[in-house]
Amino acid sequence: VVTERPEPRGFTTRAVHAWRGGPPVEEEPASVPIYQTAPFIFHDVDRFAAVGRERIGAGYLYSRWGNPTVDALARTVAALEGAEAAACFASGMAAIHGALAAVLAAGDHLVAARQLYGGTRGLLQEVLPRTGVAVDVVDITDLEAVARAFRPETRALLFEVVGNPTLDVADLDALARLAHERGAVCVVDATFTPPCLLRPLEHGADLVVHSATKYLAGHSDATAGVVAGPGDRVRRIRAFAIDYGAVLAPFEGWLTLRGIQTLALRVERTSASALAIARFLEGSGRAERVRYPGLPSHPQHGLARRLLPRGAGGIVTFELPGGAAAGRRLMERVRVFSPAASLGGTKSLVVHPASVTHSQLEPRERAEAGIGDGLVRLSIGIEDVEDLIDDLDRALAP
Ligand SMILES: Cc1ncc(COP(=O)(O)O)c(C=O)c1O
Repeated sequence: VVTERPEPRGFTTRAVHAWRGGPPVEEEPASVPIYQTAPFIFHDVDRFAAVGRERIGAGYLYSRWGNPTVDALARTVAALEGAEAAACFASGMAAIHGALAAVLAAGDHLVAARQLYGGTRGLLQEVLPRTGVAVDVVDITDLEAVARAFRPETRALLFEVVGNPTLDVADLDALARLAHERGAVCVVDATFTPPCLLRPLEHGADLVVHSATKYLAGHSDATAGVVAGPGDRVRRIRAFAIDYGAVLAPFEGWLTLRGIQTLALRVERTSASALAIARFLEGSGRAERVRYPGLPSHPQHGLARRLLPRGAGGIVTFELPGGAAAGRRLMERVRVFSPAASLGGTKSLVVHPASVTHSQLEPRERAEAGIGDGLVRLSIGIEDVEDLIDDLDRALAP
């Protein structure tokens, strides 16, 4: 409703106010509109008060509380994950924190996989203990060790289905059952296994988290996170997020929505290319311990086939016999792969953790985290696989 007001005279007043919410559009836009606004203007004071009282769901008041573009992304991810609802965050880390903070309080205990993204390990080691939450990390592939780590005050179990960077595969169904037997919430980071490959809620997980920065947005141009699950839990997570403030910006939400439209096409291609590249590396004689869940040599290959029948994703790791110097040399010699720390985009990326992302750790600490000095992680993009194999063949040549 646009209230009739007298036309202002001043130039700057007109520059600020001339747009009054029109023109009305009856046709449905083919792309989600970007509501690039912080507050929303009310022409009805009673409605202003009512929306302010409800905070979530009654209308739009302020984009930290809710934004139509970001909500369109939340509804899309919920639909793809088979969830009742989803909440969007400014990053994957904010999403993991949002999910855990809504479940855990001082005095509670969290069991988490040892095989987690380093940033998540940081959250568990540096941040949660300050809030009075105790954390134990265990080898997620050892179900007995996971069961032993539970205590009466354990409230949540956290793991990645395919771990970063070890590529260990977690037995999702068994772990969700275990968590439920002990009265804990099963939180799964499915960043490496987007919903076109796997829907963790169908395997018993309670909450599924993504760094949407990776496959969902898919073009290395947005930082975003999302949590999907039952409506009541997600509502609580959103209510917390309003106060923590790490919510997603409208344009990042739009970029992520645009990326999601081609998610299945990209992931199908990168999974097929990753398998071909893993096979090439295994047969090349220049790489050791080639790891890819789709390779029969992977320690949890049977589990990967059961959980991921449509493809095992786009991440491949291997060890270079020449250790740290060889890893550095590979990053210097590639021409199609780009040395960069992220993953899940259209461009293929290579990272040698011992030179870059984990260089601050002692070799012993790296080894404990499953990161050898010669470990290389590839994120396979959508380029033609022959070009990617040629690039590796050339860069790995003696
Ligand atoms: C498995 C996994 N979870 C979470 C994150 C954190 O996501 P973001 O960088 O969007 O905060 C990452 C980032 O690499 C990741 O690989």
